[in-house]
Amino acid sequence: MLSTIAQIRNNAAKMLSSTRQQELEQFLTPENVARQAVSLFTSSSQPIRALDLGSGSGILGAFLMQSAALGSSVTAVEQDSDLATLSEESLDEVCSNVTVINASIFDIFLDAEYDRVILNPPYRKISPMTISTSGGGVKVTNLYTAFLVTAVQSMREGGECVAIIPRSWMNGEYFKDFRQWLFGECSIDVLAVYDSRQDHFRDMNILQEIMLLKISKGPQHGKVTVYSEASPNAPLIEQPHDSADLSSLLVGRNRILRIHQEDHRLARFSTLDEVGLWVSTGKLVWFRNRDILHEDRAEHDFPLYWSDNQHGLSVDHPVVSDREQWVAPEAERRKVVLPPGSYVLVNRFSAKEQSRRIQASYLCSDVAFVADNKLNYIHAGTSRKTVPLDTKVAQGLTLWLSSTIIDQWYREISGSTQVNATDLRHLPSPPQSRLIQLSNRFSQLCNADQANIDTAIEEVLSWSRAS
Ligand SMILES: C[S@@+](CC[C@H](N)C(=O)[O-])C[C@H]1O[C@@H](n2cnc3c(N)ncnc32)[C@H](O)[C@@H]1O
Repeated sequence: MLSTIAQIRNNAAKMLSSTRQQELEQFLTPENVARQAVSLFTSSSQPIRALDLGSGSGILGAFLMQSAALGSSVTAVEQDSDLATLSEESLDEVCSNVTVINASIFDIFLDAEYDRVILNPPYRKISPMTISTSGGGVKVTNLYTAFLVTAVQSMREGGECVAIIPRSWMNGEYFKDFRQWLFGECSIDVLAVYDSRQDHFRDMNILQEIMLLKISKGPQHGKVTVYSEASPNAPLIEQPHDSADLSSLLVGRNRILRIHQEDHRLARFSTLDEVGLWVSTGKLVWFRNRDILHEDRAEHDFPLYWSDNQHGLSVDHPVVSDREQWVAPEAERRKVVLPPGSYVLVNRFSAKEQSRRIQASYLCSDVAFVADNKLNYIHAGTSRKTVPLDTKVAQGLTLWLSSTIIDQWYREISGSTQVNATDLRHLPSPPQSRLIQLSNRFSQLCNADQANIDTAIEEVLSWSRAS
């Protein structure tokens, strides 16, 4: 039976029209991932009412119903009529009470009656919209959170939901309302983050970092089970996992959700913004300012810094590059110029294969300058006013941000290769007095390898190797 269902899915995957696939994000779940998703539900000897949202070929609902008690029923919602027919075919294999609704989930109303909800929704960004729920309005900025809100609204109290979604909701500004709402409505039971992008949806060309989320409707009960490096190739239960209190995984006001408890050595530190450091994003968007960029310096031009100007822990300017190194004085009127002084530049984009996610460099400019929008810069001001850092604080901070413990911290809160300013503001930081102490090592470590940087930090912060 299950092989028939997998066969229907595999045939559907081969038949998808590429326009329709892109339009409705028809990335069908492979058998092994579907099996893992279903394995997260609590088994029930009672009949269940199940719901599969955006059911595709019906593989998720069908795998779920295969072990459901006699008398259970399943509803599938699928917008594509061909796939809705396949959903029916798959579900009929395992259940005698099947309803397939061929419609968009946004055009129908589902009662809050389901015991089990399963979904692998489309992920696309959408214009921000607020969905009204019994727990208040929740702002969503992409389809997968909109689907999840619908899933939670269709669950009865105590009902369970398993979703195959990207990991991006766990951090970042965009998702803070959604997180707040979800933590208020549901218990977070399982987080299983796949350790490789390629492994799980092999025939679907998915590049996102994907995870399984299991929640149940009602207050948080028990600990969260976390598989931080799940593999689709073995049953989850056989794979390494941790259990943690939800509170120990949450970071800061925005309630970023980590996949590991914080390293205890960082527990006593405040966040960057709490120690008086602010992260902003470079103000020059190059394609809107092409007309004022210069390859060669003209009189009164401002230096322009890109990530190309980062050179290890420091910066070089000008450099030989295909990007212009100077900006005309008009930059001042366009409000993209930053005051002279000391800063830390952090590249907003890292490559998956790069050894460090956070690339920080110390910049000391004795003239006003411009930073490209693909750089974050750290200063002592606020979101409205840029104030340069004390030079020693900037040097110490550059070393701190270049440490393995900080890189690890960042990887644990973000699965993305982008390094955004909101997440950086939550980084744990020693007080400025300690950063100043650290700065005494800056010149000797400028070209040092990672181990030397880490050793210097351990010494200055009096961490023993074993701690
Ligand atoms: C990522 S695919 C997953 C399909 C299936 N659940 C699976 O796991 O193989 C998302 C599915 O949602 C469907 N879909 C997209 N937008 C929808 C909407 N607004 N309402 C219902 N279904 C939708 C697509 O046609 C597609 O089949």
